[in-house]
Amino acid sequence: MTNVLSHEKGGHATSSCMSRRNFLILGGASVTVLGLLGATGTALANAPELVMSSYARKVVGKVSALKAGEAVEFSYPTDDIQNILVKLGEEAGGGVGEERDIVAFNTVCPHMGGIMDAGTFKASHSVLGPCPLHLSTFDLTKHGMVVSGHSTESLPQIVLAIEGDDIVATGVMGLFYGYSRNPSGA
Ligand code: FES
Repeated sequence: MTNVLSHEKGGHATSSCMSRRNFLILGGASVTVLGLLGATGTALANAPELVMSSYARKVVGKVSALKAGEAVEFSYPTDDIQNILVKLGEEAGGGVGEERDIVAFNTVCPHMGGIMDAGTFKASHSVLGPCPLHLSTFDLTKHGMVVSGHSTESLPQIVLAIEGDDIVATGVMGLFYGYSRNPSGA
């Protein structure tokens, strides 16, 4: 298995209002770019399109079956995009469930596409990492922000909702590595 993904696909992305959370997810480099562009209508109208994509809802797990500290892999929004679902045991940004501690993230490093997986999750610190290529590590309680390493961007976060016992994916906050726009749904 290669540790680097390199592909380019067109796709559909929908936009929503820029929020503080979006700024956190964009990361320092992207915020700097926005600052250079200036707060023009065009710049702000285009910026959210880079970070929020909506897809068909998909059940990715059951609340009753999810154990704290154990990551479960799932594909979304297409079969070739891998993510982890995890109950952190502490409240997290974007977390769902009674304790707001259930989150999901894409597992491809936004730096240069290093592949991480459920085994890369460290429950003791609620982080994903280190990435096998340049050791970036991401805080899953803070929208996947970089804790250390070369990455300047956060991990794409899968947007979740709870419907009864179902954990449902509804979209993605962030841009998948290797894509100029997030892919169309399956
Ligand atoms: S590819 Fe992950 S830190 Fe460089």
